[in-house]
Parts: sequence; C-alpha cells; structure tokens
Amino acid sequence: MEVYEAIYGRKSVRDFDRVKDVPPDLVMKLLKAACQAPSAGNLQPWRFWVIRDQKLKGRLAEAAFHQSFVAEAPVLIVVCADLRVASSGYGTRGTALYAIQDTAAAIENLLLAAHVEGLGACWVSAFDERRAIQALELPAHIRPLALIPIGYPAYVGTKPQKRDPLEVTEFK
Ligand SMILES: Cc1cc2nc3c(=O)[nH]c(=O)nc-3n(C[C@H](O)[C@H](O)[C@H](O)COP(=O)(O)O)c2cc1C
Repeated sequence: MEVYEAIYGRKSVRDFDRVKDVPPDLVMKLLKAACQAPSAGNLQPWRFWVIRDQKLKGRLAEAAFHQSFVAEAPVLIVVCADLRVASSGYGTRGTALYAIQDTAAAIENLLLAAHVEGLGACWVSAFDERRAIQALELPAHIRPLALIPIGYPAYVGTKPQKRDPLEVTEFK
C-alpha cells in the first residue's frame, strides 16, 4: 500500500474482533514503525507499554472515563513520553512541547502501520492521567499520552469528513 492510500484509508476503529488475536511479532512491527518517527534532536522520548492483561486493560478503560472499547481490543499500547530524556536536551520546551510532538508523530506512524496491516486502532487521549499512572505503576518521569487499542476490526464505520486544505491554509 502506498503512503497516500494508507493516509486516506485510515480511520479510527472502536469495534474489535474479540476472537482474532494480534500476534506479538506484528505488534513489534508496529512499534518499529512508530520508532521511525522524527523527534527533536533525535531524542526519541517515546516509551511504550504493551498490555494484554485483561484486568489491566479494564482498569485503563475505566481511567479513560469508561470507554469500554479500550478493554475490548486484544492489545492495548500505552504511548508515553520520557520527560527526563526530553528535558535533558531542551529543558522546559523539551518536556512541554517537543515530547508531545515527538510522541504524536510516533502515534501517527503506529496508526498508519496498523491500518496497512489490516488492523484497526483508535487514538484515545481522554483519560484520567493520575489513574492511568497508578494502574501502570509509572515512575514520575514517564507521562502517559495516549491509549491505543489495536485489533482486527469487527466493524469499520464511514470515514469522518476532513476539512479541505484551502479552508485551513493561508498563502502569503
Ligand atoms: C489527541 C486525540 C485524542 C483522542 N481521544 C479520543 C478518545 O478519547 N476517544 C475516542 O474515541 N477517540 C479519540 N480520538 C480519535 C478522534 O475522535 C478521531 O481521530 C476523530 O474523530 C477523527 O476520526 P478518524 O480518526 O477516523 O479520522 C482522539 C484523537 C486524537 C488525535
């Protein structure tokens, strides 16, 4: 699949096949794609937690204000930023801005790779950070930024409409 096909074809999936598992080597392939993202100073502050434990997935779904589909995917990848790494290069700008941008780029790579592999995924960032940190027992320098449930789609809705670039672009 060429890159434009992947970009235009990807859409959020929130309904997963509960039977068909995502094999560990495929998860590794997605993580490798995520790790190819650009990052400020190539610091690569992204960190990943791969969750298959049903109880833990359930706790994270609760932390995500009971978005139950988070626990219904066979694999849940929690994408975090290592703020210590980000700050070592760029201080406050590193932790407040670059770490978020770097990690977002890694997440988009992950979503596109999942789509190319015939998987469905959704970027979930509406969650109570404190509860997610508790559930994962994260150290203070690791900030969870997104929960990405991944599985084979049981249902794929229609793609939401996107704005025309001419509506959101200024040419000077
Ligand atoms: C920063 C961010 C946070 C998001 N958080 C959630 C979320 O908590 N729950 C959810 O169902 N979708 C969430 N989404 C997915 C968006 O709802 C989705 O990307 C948007 O509706 C466009 O649909 P598409 O992904 O199919 O293009 C989030 C997306 C982004 C980028």
